[in-house]
Amino acid sequence: MANSILAPSDDSLAKEREAEPRIHHIPQGFSDHFALGFTKVLRFCADTFFAKRYGHRAIVLETVAGVPGMVGATIQHLTSLRRMQDDHGWIRTLMEEAENERMHLMTFIAVAQPTWFERLVIQLVQGGFYIAFFLLYLVSPRTAHRIVGYFEEEAVMSYTFYLAEIDEGRAENVPAPAIARHYWKLPADATLRDVVLVVRADEAHHRDVNHGFASKIAGEPIVERIPAPYPEHADDIRMAV
Ligand SMILES: [Fe+2]
Ligand SMILES: [Fe+2]
Repeated sequence: MANSILAPSDDSLAKEREAEPRIHHIPQGFSDHFALGFTKVLRFCADTFFAKRYGHRAIVLETVAGVPGMVGATIQHLTSLRRMQDDHGWIRTLMEEAENERMHLMTFIAVAQPTWFERLVIQLVQGGFYIAFFLLYLVSPRTAHRIVGYFEEEAVMSYTFYLAEIDEGRAENVPAPAIARHYWKLPADATLRDVVLVVRADEAHHRDVNHGFASKIAGEPIVERIPAPYPEHADDIRMAV
């Protein structure tokens, strides 16, 4: 009976599910509209392909999410060398984002296994997306960061739906994988639900950082908003693997 007293009520679960604010950057000009349109097309493709298989969806999309940070860091690094100018911390931030997304992937791969077809899709998409995103970042880093901002808006929503699947019993709330417990410093009895909450918080942080970078490049008056708080991560990720 103690459990039923301590267990969160349906109401508090629903509140937690909705806790992450739905930040949406209102598109300004062609670059932002292009970024939003591109994101909506990809969202439609993901919805069609995965429907409600959120574990599989997370794996495939995280293989894509790990690309932009590394591309952005590479190009910012080269730009800093070429122009002999400081990067104002962008390179480290973007490299950390790429690593964080890869840890999302390492976590979800411990929960679900992709089908052979999904593995094939991952191979093909990575080749095309890396090259396309690299070229886009060269031409318009503003659009590239705005796309990531919109991707992350979708990611926050997608993990919110995943929480609902877990809460309503359609996805099993298995124990958190060891790698996730180490990386996010979670307690020993943490579950998949706890993991989805911290992953969603990571995505909300990436959303705000990338929208901020895009606005800065565009010279837009940045509405001073502190990025969504980043959960604490382990320093030594090798220990997690
Ligand atoms: Fe992610
Ligand atoms: Fe992200």
